[in-house]
Amino acid sequence: MSVLPADPHLPVAHLRPPRNWINDPNGLAFHDGHYHVCFQHNPYGPEHANMHWGHFRSTDLLTWEELPVALAPTPGGEDADGCYSGNAVSDGERMVAFYSAFRTDRWAQPVTTAESLDGGRTWTPRGSLLIPDLPQGVSMYRDPYVWREGGRWRMLVGSALADGRAAALLYESSDLEQWHYQGPFLDRTPQTLAPGADTGLGWECPQYLHGPDGRGALIVSAWDPELGPRRTVAYSGREREGRFLADAPVLLDHGPDFYAPALLPAPDGRWLLWGWSWEARDQQWVNAAGWAGLLTLPREVTLGEDGSVRQQPARELLSLRDGRALTASGETSSAAQLGTVDPSFDLTARLELHAPATSGGLRLVTSADGSEYLDIRIDPTTGELVVDREHASLDPRAHGGTYRIPCPEAKTASGAAIELRLVVDRSVAELYLPSGRTLTLRFYPTGGSPWRLEAHAAGGGHIGYTVAAWNLRPYTVRREEEASAQSALT
Ligand code: FRU
Repeated sequence: MSVLPADPHLPVAHLRPPRNWINDPNGLAFHDGHYHVCFQHNPYGPEHANMHWGHFRSTDLLTWEELPVALAPTPGGEDADGCYSGNAVSDGERMVAFYSAFRTDRWAQPVTTAESLDGGRTWTPRGSLLIPDLPQGVSMYRDPYVWREGGRWRMLVGSALADGRAAALLYESSDLEQWHYQGPFLDRTPQTLAPGADTGLGWECPQYLHGPDGRGALIVSAWDPELGPRRTVAYSGREREGRFLADAPVLLDHGPDFYAPALLPAPDGRWLLWGWSWEARDQQWVNAAGWAGLLTLPREVTLGEDGSVRQQPARELLSLRDGRALTASGETSSAAQLGTVDPSFDLTARLELHAPATSGGLRLVTSADGSEYLDIRIDPTTGELVVDREHASLDPRAHGGTYRIPCPEAKTASGAAIELRLVVDRSVAELYLPSGRTLTLRFYPTGGSPWRLEAHAAGGGHIGYTVAAWNLRPYTVRREEEASAQSALT
């Protein structure tokens, strides 16, 4: 059952096991009445090594069951050094997982599979590679994404091409066994998206959201051969004969700590998405904590009329709100106390900044003396929301920085008006705007709860605010060890 963890930074409404390392969500599929959420997992420590697939499942996205590790490296086998990322499909009675087979003595991570006939409880690896021969001119190759469309199976594989383009390579199959290479679905040379953010020399974890009207969005995780994982990029567009005709790329999430998101087509037609949010603190601290990484909230992803890729928290999460709302409305030209919240909360706000204020917004104060706070403020000159974690931890091992999320629609004649939803869960903040833009970041408050919410304005004008906040109930998580302890008792 869910007991609040003693570690104040361990989330309660974000998926991850209690200990050790996790990264990408993997194997997302709806099968036998359950949402299956696997993830890259090192069961032995808080660092990226020994990659297995951990496994949760749920019928409602709120009550989760941790199943036994789904995939483990086979000593001496094709995946001897790691079962890397991929997805899974439900195919009648069976689930088939497609994943990258990692060996340290091979630069490519070719595709292999595993099959489960008991609802994901046990898996049989195929033992050999599914696609042993790689296309020519490929210098990085990994992370299959398989889906069913138009009466056949299709697969994208993330790649870098030797000529400097990043690519998502397309394969097709009638039976999930024989795969025929169709060429790049999309390829691009790197393009700058924001300061320090570009579309990458290689693409990891390609994901494809396709609508019934032929429109779609290709989501890729931009990777650099020297710097490694960078940011996540979305291309919307439409397919024509095996090629994706893409509009201009955009960042899928404007925060620094979001990567390798993966899609799950839900049976009710929704596209759900989970991302990996990595740690933003020094490794020594991670080692002492004994855990690293978490999966974001499940998000509903839709395509706007204008082709924009929009995200919002899955509607199921509304029932994690505990019913005891903080509500506050008013205005201030300096600082106003709004009330207190627990370290896991869900908040909606409408903020109106009036000239000549130069900035204003919300502050989450996490130390009694007010010196530790996460600041979310409007920049009325650009219409951006600035999320500032420079003061969000008194511990110097926490990373700082300020991050911007565009909301040009917020600019008004006399300032800016912004609506937002903020979900905070101990050390992760996810910000959602009505435009569907998001910003995910990690922060590590050192002060005890309750935390305080404040509204701030600076520069002479004032801010009007309407805020509602609910403390969050933890997910209910039933873990395998508890399940086996119970069956030992009976
Ligand atoms: C993305 C990634 C994938 C790879 C996996 C290894 O974060 O690097 O490309 O398959 O993680 O854990």
